[in-house]
Amino acid sequence: MNDKEKVAKYAADIVTNNMTVGLGTGSTANCFIEALASRIKNEGLKVTLVASSVVSMIKAKSLGLSVASIEQIQSLDLYVDGADEVSPDNTLLKGQGSDLVREKLLARSSKQFIVLVDQSKMVARIGERFAIPIEVLPFAWQLVKQSIEVFGANGVLRKNSNGSGLAVSSQGSLILDMVFDQELETGQLNAILDSIPGVVEHGIFYQLADIVLLATDGDVKEILTL
Ligand code: A5P
Repeated sequence: MNDKEKVAKYAADIVTNNMTVGLGTGSTANCFIEALASRIKNEGLKVTLVASSVVSMIKAKSLGLSVASIEQIQSLDLYVDGADEVSPDNTLLKGQGSDLVREKLLARSSKQFIVLVDQSKMVARIGERFAIPIEVLPFAWQLVKQSIEVFGANGVLRKNSNGSGLAVSSQGSLILDMVFDQELETGQLNAILDSIPGVVEHGIFYQLADIVLLATDGDVKEILTL
């Protein structure tokens, strides 16, 4: 079992009967979906599942799982997802999968949000390895970009995976990937991005995680964040 599978199994073992569980997006979240599918199949575990993206919904369905639509649920017990970066104050950067609004909606609505990472995701500051993804209404992207550039940033609209067109989220938004040349404090950056009209959502998950599960040298370390 590799580190991603180990941390995913650890999280899947936390799930109990009758929970409503949100499925994240990415290779680590996929390992979680597989580990949970195996418990559902082998132990008869009963859960209601919702997905943070079309990709994770397809993954779950490919394993024979039923996935409810977000409109059908009132609340979540648990949301489990990966992250692209985790800073020492346990702020996350997410969004390489281009479905920010669903991911943050599920993270905010869940009683518990568990994040699965390995050592490669731990950074000294948010934005160290990735640009900040910002999901925007398609007609607003130029005005939003200008509003963000005022804070010393520059960036581009994200391309799709083969580079022939633009990346589009599950609900038709575009993604701006913005790099900030000045080091803004994460809380300040979060507040700035929250306040810009036309921004659907952004990749800074500030004080949202309850537990970060860090896979390190074959062990899983629980980092409680709240
Ligand atoms: C999806 O939009 C991201 O927020 C993911 O959680 C992230 O890209 C993690 O992916 P990996 O687990 O593949 O690194």
